[in-house]
Amino acid sequence: MRAAYVTEPGPPDAIRYGELPLPATGPTDVLVRVRAVAVDPVDALVRSGAYRTPIPAPFVIGRDLVGEVAATGPGAVGFTPGQAVWCNSLGHGGRQGSFAEYATVAADRLYPAPPDVDPEELVAAAHPAATAWLALFRHGRLRAGQTVYVGGAAGNVGSAAVALANAAGARVVATARPDDFDRVRAWGAADVYDYHGTDLPERLRTAAPDGYHVHLDTSGHGQPAVAVPLLAHGGRMVLMAGLHDIVGLPVGALYTRDARIVGFAISNATTADLATAATAVPHLLRTTTWRPRVTDRLPLSEAAHAHRLLADASVRGRIVLRP
Ligand SMILES: NC(=O)c1ccc[n+]([C@@H]2O[C@H](COP(=O)([O-])OP(=O)(O)OC[C@H]3O[C@@H](n4cnc5c(N)ncnc54)[C@H](OP(=O)(O)O)[C@@H]3O)[C@@H](O)[C@H]2O)c1
Repeated sequence: MRAAYVTEPGPPDAIRYGELPLPATGPTDVLVRVRAVAVDPVDALVRSGAYRTPIPAPFVIGRDLVGEVAATGPGAVGFTPGQAVWCNSLGHGGRQGSFAEYATVAADRLYPAPPDVDPEELVAAAHPAATAWLALFRHGRLRAGQTVYVGGAAGNVGSAAVALANAAGARVVATARPDDFDRVRAWGAADVYDYHGTDLPERLRTAAPDGYHVHLDTSGHGQPAVAVPLLAHGGRMVLMAGLHDIVGLPVGALYTRDARIVGFAISNATTADLATAATAVPHLLRTTTWRPRVTDRLPLSEAAHAHRLLADASVRGRIVLRP
């Protein structure tokens, strides 16, 4: 089969496109004929070695896929050949990735793809929307009636977080660039502020005088010195971006609020948590106006080019590749 792979971690130029043997399918695995994959920031972190995780050699890059069941192991119950499926947890933790004509997926990491959801929108949503769901509800414990701050609200994860939180009955206060205000409001933010504003902390305080129950910065520019004093009593600051940041912490403002800082990486999510988040992703696409921003659709043979584009900060949205 044709696949995009690296022989060891390295830059985008280390990505090769060529023939690899079909992956073996164990008793509880499903062999998937891949139809589309999405290029995630985390793919670059794994490919470069910046995010340390066990990987086989050669290593097929990529985390997400949509496709059809090609074959099943005898213990992979619930899947039948030809069935439309998706996955968002390949390519780390010792598992081969998705950027190939075929991928082997453990049955508990594979989900049926609903016929009424566009497969390329589903694959583009798979990583950011599942991340947003886990951040808000699993780690942030957000509930209806609470107030949540979403930073980077026009981004892949941030925009999904706005839509998910709004759909769950929370009040969303967000930051974005002014060009995106209308879009962020349309996804459900009650208030949107320019993240460049020098008076941003004061505006955020005024927008939620009783504090934020959940603070979710998806931009990697969140500052605990600003965020913690804005938390409600018992509030949760969820950290999920800013891989190399070292930031100051206002200790008193944290403990006198009974507040928490919770870090999480979707790479560590259990299959049970991933499966719960996976029910939320197609539901979000079916029931809200939110859609992932797909900026490019390219052949899989362009995987190295796609990773070069990803390194360019001006790319806003997801690149979808087709084998
Ligand atoms: N922990 C996890 O499990 C996990 C999972 C997925 C992603 N991530 C990480 O989460 C981050 C976001 O991913 P993504 O795909 O959503 O990226 P993205 O689409 O590029 O979104 C980032 C957003 O941050 C905004 N931003 C840029 N500079 C800012 C600043 N100074 N202040 C406030 N906002 C600013 C951007 O605004 P503009 O739109 O105006 O440029 C953009 O909307 C990445 O670092 C990624 O590695 C972590």
